[in-house]
Amino acid sequence: MFLVTGATGGIGRRVVRLLRQRNQSVRAFARLTSHYGELEHRGAEIFIGDLHQEKDIQKASKGVKYIISAHGSDSDALSLDYRANIELIDQAKANGVQHFVFISVLGADRGYEDAPVFKAKRAVERYLEASGLNYTILRPAGLASNLLPLVERFRETGLYLLIGDRKNRTSIVSTDDLARIVVDSITVEGARNRIFPVGGPEILLREDIPWIFGRIFAKEPVIINSPLFFIDGLQGVLGLFNPQTQKALGTFRTLLANEFFCTKDEIANLETIFNFQLETLESFLRRYLAV
Ligand SMILES: NC(=O)c1ccc[n+]([C@@H]2O[C@H](COP(=O)([O-])OP(=O)(O)OC[C@H]3O[C@@H](n4cnc5c(N)ncnc54)[C@H](OP(=O)(O)O)[C@@H]3O)[C@@H](O)[C@H]2O)c1
Repeated sequence: MFLVTGATGGIGRRVVRLLRQRNQSVRAFARLTSHYGELEHRGAEIFIGDLHQEKDIQKASKGVKYIISAHGSDSDALSLDYRANIELIDQAKANGVQHFVFISVLGADRGYEDAPVFKAKRAVERYLEASGLNYTILRPAGLASNLLPLVERFRETGLYLLIGDRKNRTSIVSTDDLARIVVDSITVEGARNRIFPVGGPEILLREDIPWIFGRIFAKEPVIINSPLFFIDGLQGVLGLFNPQTQKALGTFRTLLANEFFCTKDEIANLETIFNFQLETLESFLRRYLAV
């Protein structure tokens, strides 16, 4: 039995689908408010709970052989990115789990002080490495599925909002490829007790993305390039009303202000170990848009 947290999210949903296609039994951790109908329909066991609650994590972990941690945190990095994962790892040990897959983030080890999600991820990575469990830690760059709402908006308006440096490099990864890597991590020998940066096959400049959208719809993009201090202003104002959201914006700012890409060698290594060719952003978008 696999336990998947974040089962209704961009990565988790695809992981559950893939596991069910491979006839694996899956317990999908979901909130009562989550959209889990599709997962239930595919034969996953739905565990209703909240990752803020230790007792829910304890119950969900009973009798599972593998744990895949793929949940997000909205703006609560301490409770969800940190504490919930620590509890999942403790429960994995208590239940004799055979392999733990953790979705971290590219750059978790760069010491970004103002990015709570990055700090939580690095602390969890360390805890998992020292746990004695078999593990695989995946550090993805941006996910292609995040761009689906943007490409739909682009289809209607031709507009693309780009905040920060348009020349920053990124390696957007196909969310379907990432899900495959997550699931294969458990069986591929070379993935045991390893940390992998995970990106797509090409290093893109952020300004390349609207041009890819434009190619797909044969439409010249109108790029609105907003400077980063727009976020700084917003962060300052938010701090007056909601300090937690202000801190969460620190993670967002870190994502916009820095480069998140994998080197050619890292991608070649990933393709060798997992034995498949990663798809480009354009291929991912064309599949989903059916164009
Ligand atoms: N998106 C990216 O570009 C990216 C890049 C690198 C790393 N990552 C990491 O990858 C992981 C998954 O990202 P994603 O984009 O797939 O996430 P996502 O689409 O935002 O989904 C987040 C998931 O976490 C669940 N969740 C949030 N709070 C919860 C709670 N209190 N109790 C139970 N479940 C809860 C959500 O449930 P609901 O459906 O109920 O909301 C949802 O299933 C995250 O750890 C993220 O940091 C993401």
